[in-house]
Amino acid sequence: MPSIINICGARPNFMKIAPLMRAYGAHSGIDPLLIHTGQHYDKNMSDLFFKQLGIPEPDLNLGIGSGSHAVQTAQIMTAFEQVCLERKPDWVLVVGDVNSTIACGMVAVKMGIRLAHVEAGLRSFDRGMPEEVNRVLTDSISDLLFVTEPSGLENLKREGVPDEKVHFVGNVMIDTLLANREKAEASTVLTDLGLEPRGYNVATLHRPSNVDNPEIFGGIIDALEHVQRDRPIVFPMHPRTVANLEKLGLKQRIDGLAGLRVVEPLGYLDFLKLTANANVVLTDSGGIQEETTILGVWCLTLRENTERPVTIDQGTNTLVGIDPRAIIAAYDQRTGQPASGRTPDKWDGKAAERIARILAAQS
Ligand code: UD1
Repeated sequence: MPSIINICGARPNFMKIAPLMRAYGAHSGIDPLLIHTGQHYDKNMSDLFFKQLGIPEPDLNLGIGSGSHAVQTAQIMTAFEQVCLERKPDWVLVVGDVNSTIACGMVAVKMGIRLAHVEAGLRSFDRGMPEEVNRVLTDSISDLLFVTEPSGLENLKREGVPDEKVHFVGNVMIDTLLANREKAEASTVLTDLGLEPRGYNVATLHRPSNVDNPEIFGGIIDALEHVQRDRPIVFPMHPRTVANLEKLGLKQRIDGLAGLRVVEPLGYLDFLKLTANANVVLTDSGGIQEETTILGVWCLTLRENTERPVTIDQGTNTLVGIDPRAIIAAYDQRTGQPASGRTPDKWDGKAAERIARILAAQS
C-alpha cells in the first residue's frame, strides 16, 4: 500500500488537491496524508476553500506564511524534511507551480522519496516568472508526471523526460469546477452585488510583473477605465495587489472609477458563479484561463505568454498582453458576443480518478 504525502500551500493548490483526496478514498490501496505548508493563511485565501470544497483538515499545517522567495522556500524545506523523517512516505505528491511545490519536491527527492507532480509539463518559456522556474525544476526531478494538455506532453518529450514517467490524465482543477457547478448556482453573489448575468465583467490581477510596476499597473488601469464604462467590473483583489495600490499611489485612481468595484478575495463558489455569468473576464491568473474555457466565457489574459496554450487553441482565451490599446481593442471585439470554445481532451471531471488509479498501482 503506497503511503503518499500530498502537499498544498497556496490558493490555486486547494482546487487541485480536493478531487485527489476524494479519489484516494475509492482506492483502499492508498494511504494518504495531507500537509498544508501555510504559504497562504488568510481565511479567504485558504480556510474557506477547505470548507467549501470538502477537503479534509490537513494532518499538519507547517504555518510558514509569507516571505521572500528564498526565505519562504527554505522554511518550507526545513519544516517538511522533519515531516518526511517522521512519516517516511513512499511518495510525495505536489500540484501546480507555487513555491510550496518545488520546496517539498526538492526535500522528497533528496531523501530518496519518489515524487509525483500534478499539472506537469506546462511552459510559458519565460524564466522571469517565478512559477516557470518552479515548473521546470519540479518536472526535472519528478518520477511521475501528470499532464493536463497536449503541450505538456510535447514540452516534456523535448526536455528528454522518459515516456514511461509521463501520463496524460486531464485537469484536476476542472474536476473541481464540474463537481461544484451546481452548488455554485446557489451562491447569492450576483444579487448581493446587484449584478445581472452578462451585465458585468470580472478582473483579477496579482502577478508581480503586472502589479509591482507603476507604469504597467497604471496602463492596465487605463484599459479598465474604458472597460468599466461599457459594463461594470467586479475586481476581487489579491492581498498583494491591495498593498501595491497604496504603495504605488494608484489607489485614488481606482477609487475614482465609478464602475470598478473592488471586493475582498471571494470563496470558490462565489467566484465560480461570478465568472460563469460574466461578460468578459480580464486576468493574469493561470487557472482562470482554464476555468473560463469550460464555462464558455471570454477570457482576456493580460500577459505576454501563457503556459496553457490549449485554452487559446480550443478555448475562449486570448493573450492580449499589457498594452492598454490592445486590451481595449480585444475587449471591444468581444463584449456582448457569445463566447465559443471546445472542451479540451480529458477535461471531463475524471482526472483525479485516473491519477489515483496510477498511484495505487505503484509499490
Ligand atoms: C502565489 C504563487 C502564484 C499563485 C498565487 C495565487 C508562488 C511563487 N506564487 O503568489 O503562483 O498564482 O499564489 O494566489 O508561489 N498574502 C496575504 N495573505 C495570504 C497570502 C499572501 O496577505 O494568505 C500576501 C502577503 O503580503 C504576501 C503576498 O500576499 O507577501 C504574496 O504571497 P505569496 O504566497 O508570496 O505569493 P502570491 O503572490 O500569493
